Amino acid sequence: MSGKIILITGSTGGIGKATAAELAKLGGYVIITGRDRSRGEAALAEIRRESGNDSAQLMLADLSSQKGVRELADSFIARHKRLDVLINNVGGLYGNRYETVDGIEATLALNHLCPFLLTLLLLPALRAGAPSRIVNVSSIGHKNVQRINFDDLQNIEYRGFLVYSQTKLANLLFTYELADRLNGERITVNALHPGIVQTDIGKTFCTERFFPDRKYVSCVFCFLAETLIRLFFKFDDLEKAAQACIYVAASSELDGVTGKYFDNNEQMVQSSLASYDKAAALRLWQVSSELTGCGEAAVAAEGRDPSPP
Ligand SMILES: NC(=O)c1ccc[n+]([C@@H]2O[C@H](COP(=O)([O-])OP(=O)(O)OC[C@H]3O[C@@H](n4cnc5c(N)ncnc54)[C@H](OP(=O)(O)O)[C@@H]3O)[C@@H](O)[C@H]2O)c1
Repeated sequence: MSGKIILITGSTGGIGKATAAELAKLGGYVIITGRDRSRGEAALAEIRRESGNDSAQLMLADLSSQKGVRELADSFIARHKRLDVLINNVGGLYGNRYETVDGIEATLALNHLCPFLLTLLLLPALRAGAPSRIVNVSSIGHKNVQRINFDDLQNIEYRGFLVYSQTKLANLLFTYELADRLNGERITVNALHPGIVQTDIGKTFCTERFFPDRKYVSCVFCFLAETLIRLFFKFDDLEKAAQACIYVAASSELDGVTGKYFDNNEQMVQSSLASYDKAAALRLWQVSSELTGCGEAAVAAEGRDPSPP
């Protein structure tokens, strides 16, 4: 990965940070993102120290907002001529329904519309970096739902984990559709499940869902719940999750491989039947284009259209 420019979203903590640190160790020029400057700078310092690679950079953006996504893409393009690897890792799981500044349900906005919009905005940079890779961090949780509920895409009837699962299904529909649309270009698009790892994502959900006003009680509850779960279930470790991401982002075995899904053991596997539904993928693409104001011109259904989004 020496000298490769790698942008990884949601990388001031959790799986993203661990992946960024490993890619920096491999010599990559890694750009991490998060919302909070002090958390971001602490993560950056840790990544530089751990990897011994001082080139890592931080870019700040709230990626639940489309303005944030556009600003991130703009500042990336202003600083870099090309992008070799884009890892769409950022994701959230919320205990309650929120709307973003754009009036969009937050899980849909962060987990699906952000990677959709960011990827399309960065396509010129990915084309300049070709052969380049797009890696979408989905989840085995996509199997919890049978379809995208287009009748309630804004999740008015909010069921936290199912809403999350639906966005992870959306990651796969987007991956396969984009791979088809980029056919003939030297940009690959793949998705993966990183494993089940204890990160802030679960804690946030637990706090918001059960103890919205009692953070301290929530911490104690989470600790007890985690201890109990550990008696019956083995979490994957962060390093293994990072390796799963790195395999899809960097392995030479996957040169030219596109439109595939990998598990956390670095195996190419089938995703759910629903994820291969072409009609749903096309409909999702159309709705996502309408919600973001981007998409149709970036990649034509029949293949490359060089006009900018
Ligand atoms: N953990 C698991 O067991 C698991 C399983 C399957 C799939 N996944 C997937 O793996 C990915 C990473 O999950 P994780 O568990 O590592 O999550 P995490 O620990 O909660 O980390 C999330 C990262 O995203 C950033 N972030 C959150 N909201 C943001 C926003 N609105 N704008 C910009 N950045 C934001 C956070 O940074 P700041 O807070 O500093 O902004 C942090 O760096 C997600 O796509 C998730 O769906 C996780």
